[in-house]
Amino acid sequence: MSKFPSDKPVLVTCGLPYANGKAHVGHLRTYIPADIFTRSLRKTGQEVTFVCGSDTHGTPIVFNAEELNTTPKELIKIYHKHFDETFKQMGVMFDAFGTTDDQTNHDRTTDIVNKLIENDYVFPKTIEIAYCPSCDRFLPDRYVKGTCPHCKEEARGDECDQGCGKHLEPGELESPTCTTCNGPAEYRKQEHFFFKLSEFKDFLIEHLENLGGTLNARNYALGWVKQELTDWCITRNLDWGVRFPGHDDLVVYVWVDAPIGYIAFTEEWAEANNESWEKFWKEDSRIVHFIGGDIIYHHCIFWPAMLKGAGYSQPWSVVASGMVKIEDKTFSKSRGYVVWVGEDYLDHGFHPDLLRYYLASYTSHTKELNFSWEVFQDKINTELVGVFGNFLYRTLLFTHKNFKEIPAGEIKQETLDEINSTIEAANEAMENYEFKKYADAAMALASYGNSYFQSNEPWKLIKEDKDACGEVVANCIQLAKALCLLFEPILPEKMEDAWKQIGMSTDVHEAGYAEATELVNAGTPLEKPSILFEKIEDEKTEQMEAIASARVKEAIAKQSGKEEKEEPKEMKELITFDDFSKLDMRIGTIVSAEEIKKSKKLLKLQVDLGEEETRQIVAGIKESHSPEELPGRQVLVLANLAPAKLCGVESNGMVLAGTDEDGKAILLQPEKGTGAGNSIM
Ligand code: 2FM
Ligand code: ZN
Repeated sequence: MSKFPSDKPVLVTCGLPYANGKAHVGHLRTYIPADIFTRSLRKTGQEVTFVCGSDTHGTPIVFNAEELNTTPKELIKIYHKHFDETFKQMGVMFDAFGTTDDQTNHDRTTDIVNKLIENDYVFPKTIEIAYCPSCDRFLPDRYVKGTCPHCKEEARGDECDQGCGKHLEPGELESPTCTTCNGPAEYRKQEHFFFKLSEFKDFLIEHLENLGGTLNARNYALGWVKQELTDWCITRNLDWGVRFPGHDDLVVYVWVDAPIGYIAFTEEWAEANNESWEKFWKEDSRIVHFIGGDIIYHHCIFWPAMLKGAGYSQPWSVVASGMVKIEDKTFSKSRGYVVWVGEDYLDHGFHPDLLRYYLASYTSHTKELNFSWEVFQDKINTELVGVFGNFLYRTLLFTHKNFKEIPAGEIKQETLDEINSTIEAANEAMENYEFKKYADAAMALASYGNSYFQSNEPWKLIKEDKDACGEVVANCIQLAKALCLLFEPILPEKMEDAWKQIGMSTDVHEAGYAEATELVNAGTPLEKPSILFEKIEDEKTEQMEAIASARVKEAIAKQSGKEEKEEPKEMKELITFDDFSKLDMRIGTIVSAEEIKKSKKLLKLQVDLGEEETRQIVAGIKESHSPEELPGRQVLVLANLAPAKLCGVESNGMVLAGTDEDGKAILLQPEKGTGAGNSIM
């Protein structure tokens, strides 16, 4: 039985993109599967409403506006338009795409917060808030960074984004630093308002145990809820946002008004279509949230508790996508590890549907996806061009050449069975948010089509028995029809074209899976077909790979402050003088140097460390120094480094070196010649 009974209205939402930067492929990993899911569910006959909008409040927006010397209002206008256009270009078709700054959302948020206050779920509390004495302001969320109290990684004010992923409450961050001036911040007392999240523990455990969607969302959240549930600070010191009722100096935390946007956008859709929003948010419904794996906490803990506390319906499923990486680095627009949808994809002439196919079919939705142009090329060339495109084109070209129309012929039970079982498998995959399985099932039907065509040898039959040949061709066109319907959710624009090519005059987006076994009409004239999918050439892939690599390099260089450097240079943890004094650093004189044949980088040095001690030290300086030039030079040596073997050669210490602009080693040396063995203080 379907998980989506027809009497329950389905609402699909997508995590709201912050309107403060361009769309990248990481974003699409949530939006495209959500769009595929919506289209597919509609094909089963289910009515689905699909809403999203721009996240326009909170420090991510204010921060970027300040950096760009503009206002939050101007900034969000630009990026809201950008996201709206990009989604349309990519075939992601929301029924409503609003902004959290819309009046509808201000009103709905105020209403919900008032309900929570009325229901006694909100209380004031004086807490410590990070404050920057030099900038003379309180530092909400992204205005402050420091150390995560849970995992000790560097974290933002409200989120451990580099480490354990936990939400952080104001005041929790250790060693707070102002992100504007980089100076140390201090904690100062201030009154804020809290939501009694801790009272929802039992409710949340039950809610999560019944929550649908992907298991990663449910299980992470259950783990967190079972551990601890602290009350949640829902106000911030900002001018931009939805005012906290009765307090002109406070706005609500962005994670309050952002998900409420889901309701506001449903209201906007309902208003425009003379429909009801309450049927989703006040009655029994199927609300399915598609989100990135980094915002599970907010959607599975804060959000259902808030809805419950204010008397709204609960989410039914949370579908959380795995992260997207590039060259093994998690996408990060602030760090620059990204593939932009515009300049790195669409502007190079790639069709939107190819990326849709790649993202849906590459790996399971919850797994990490390392973006690779090579895999992209391979999937397009072998699967879309080699299997599906090949089947459609050879079928239609053969038909056009020999019949000019869909020939008469019995559609075999075997063909219909194959179609039905594929649709069944595909639907089951879709209900379980397994987009790869869905795509694979559809592709397997195209493969079946190719084998059917090949084994029946219509090119021979046409000469021997035109009727029998017609029958084979008609069966192939029936398969092509089913394939158009199955692939429409993934390849919507391409399937519009294919649908016309097989002689259909209806709208493929409106047609349901049930039509797949409605027999094709013999006698329908067919035009000369055109090729749907073109091969991606190796040169193109190489060009795209070079662009991606250059971007990653540039991002790394930007972070380290140097071009071409390979690893980002990060400030290490502070050490005490005691820590420092453990290092035994001395001046040494190189006595001899020789090559280590097996290594491109290493030289074996004998270094005089005074007191008649000569040490063997292996140093990575072969690329910048020849052995002959070294004897007699004085160097700085870390003398008490534990022995190690490098390329099989024992090394007892380290010769200190820096790097030049090309990343080559430069030896550090004393200002003037001095006795070997002298300590360095
Ligand atoms: O993490 C983000 O990008 C947020 N803008 C997502 C908000 S989703 C929702 F709850 F509104
Ligand atoms: Zn952490």
